[in-house]
Amino acid sequence: MTKKPRRSQAWYGKSDKDGFIHRSWMKNQGFPDHAFDGRPVIGICNTWSELTPCNSGLRELAEGVKRGVWEAGGFPVEFPVMSLGETQMKPTAMLFRNLLAMDVEESIRAYGIDGVVLLGGCDKTTPGQLMGAASVDLPSIVVSSGPMLNGKWQGSDIGSGTDVWKFSEAVRAGDMTLRDFMAAESGMSRSKGVCMTMGTASTMASIVEAMGLCLPTNAALPAVDARRMALAHLTGKRIVEMVDEDLKPSDILTRAAFENAILANAAVGGSTNAVVHLLALAGRVGVDLTLKDFEIGGDIPLLVNCMPSGRYLMEDFCYAGGMPVVLKELGDLLRSSRTVLGGDIAAYADGAECWNRDVIRPFGDPLKPAAGLRVLRGNLAPDGAIVKPSAATEALLEHEAEAYVFESIEDLKANIDRDDLPVTPDTILVLKGCGPKGYPGMPEVGNMPIPARLVKQGVRDMVRVSDARMSGTAYGTVILHVAPEANAGGPLALVQTGDRIRISAKTGTLDLLVSDEELATRRAAWAPDPPRYDRGYARLYVDTVLQADRGADLDFLVGKDTRPVTRESH
Ligand code: FES
Repeated sequence: MTKKPRRSQAWYGKSDKDGFIHRSWMKNQGFPDHAFDGRPVIGICNTWSELTPCNSGLRELAEGVKRGVWEAGGFPVEFPVMSLGETQMKPTAMLFRNLLAMDVEESIRAYGIDGVVLLGGCDKTTPGQLMGAASVDLPSIVVSSGPMLNGKWQGSDIGSGTDVWKFSEAVRAGDMTLRDFMAAESGMSRSKGVCMTMGTASTMASIVEAMGLCLPTNAALPAVDARRMALAHLTGKRIVEMVDEDLKPSDILTRAAFENAILANAAVGGSTNAVVHLLALAGRVGVDLTLKDFEIGGDIPLLVNCMPSGRYLMEDFCYAGGMPVVLKELGDLLRSSRTVLGGDIAAYADGAECWNRDVIRPFGDPLKPAAGLRVLRGNLAPDGAIVKPSAATEALLEHEAEAYVFESIEDLKANIDRDDLPVTPDTILVLKGCGPKGYPGMPEVGNMPIPARLVKQGVRDMVRVSDARMSGTAYGTVILHVAPEANAGGPLALVQTGDRIRISAKTGTLDLLVSDEELATRRAAWAPDPPRYDRGYARLYVDTVLQADRGADLDFLVGKDTRPVTRESH
């Protein structure tokens, strides 16, 4: 069998002026002649940044990858791409996920590399990198940052995000002092790594493992565990082999892999954010995934006892056996699908053993019987909305009540704690203007705070409806991703305080109980908010972003382009 010529040879294999230029400038870093002898050139796509604290360990991991690439006879070259620090970026890191994806795609395409190791971790970095890499379709493999060590404070474990929401409500209720609140900050984040709850970062890492896009155990090994460095080394070795085998994302990212991701997301009690990221990734590789497909996870039991749906943290999940145990528990439910190892996903589970059955429950004795996300539709969400029952109050999942509407995030912030806010524990809080176009960027504000007056009465959950997302570390009866969003003219734009809304997770419905005639009158008087940005990336984003049910990708980025780049710059 004749091997496909290496892509990198079009840069480094020529004996003309172009070859001279490509090699000579690289040699200024001290690479010897034999680095250009036709061996696979492996790009290490790094989202390291001090402004993305969750990814601040990736420089060390890149060194581990390089060891493995050299050992396997490859030539590693590390390159930076935009980094998205979830807790640091305004207006929201999600606004920039597609920009990172473009950066990754164009960097991979423009340089003379044969395969890529994607180093990411913080929430949007993993999907952004995968979307970009999938659109170029060179052999690619993921190494994640890994979670922080368990948070520790006043003798207890505390979890990133989840306990922030709890502490913040406790301060508002007068149950926690500001001094204690500030002190908990330092105990929560004790090492490099991503949030150590089953937030979006660990959800995406778990999904990446369930899709076979990384080496087994990648999701849960703590960021500072020496075994993660060894995993990076082994990943470096494996990507060289993958280039020789021409094993590409399109061989791995089949419909079966997406279905496995949905099943795994349910079993780990994963983040609602996985929905938009999987829909966007599917769009890149031409898999016709829709919101309806997420219903296959509906009856999957919750196996992983991690916050926010359970009580443990990612370090405990790792010591209990991690994702290989979850995949083994899913057993025959898993769809046959190829992985970066070249074999079937079932092979990941080979030899997996569970060391703590309270952290990873057996399929037959789960934490909750049905943990998958519920998709809701109705005249309030014609293109769908989602809710995460495992993080919700069961009694509120079948609910009808009057709405109290916040027209924007500013309206909410200014009024939520007013003593005279006319709400009861039954009221359905509605927030508009937080979808992809409206905010813009679809921020994680869907888990609106409970009004202070009700918090003081002991209320900890209410039904909340919006076109926003919610942090993977958050919880509550929160209906998210309403599509179309208010700013795209969805029916959400027409809701008024006092309207009745009915939600039923059982029947999968979300309805605004207002007559069609009245809605038509309101629509005639409606106009979208004026655009907040008139230039730059934000304008491009607002002009071209798809709605949540299409993954909020930019319309012109859907699909891929695998054509060779033939033109030279010199
Ligand atoms: Fe980066 Fe949670 S904020 S992973």
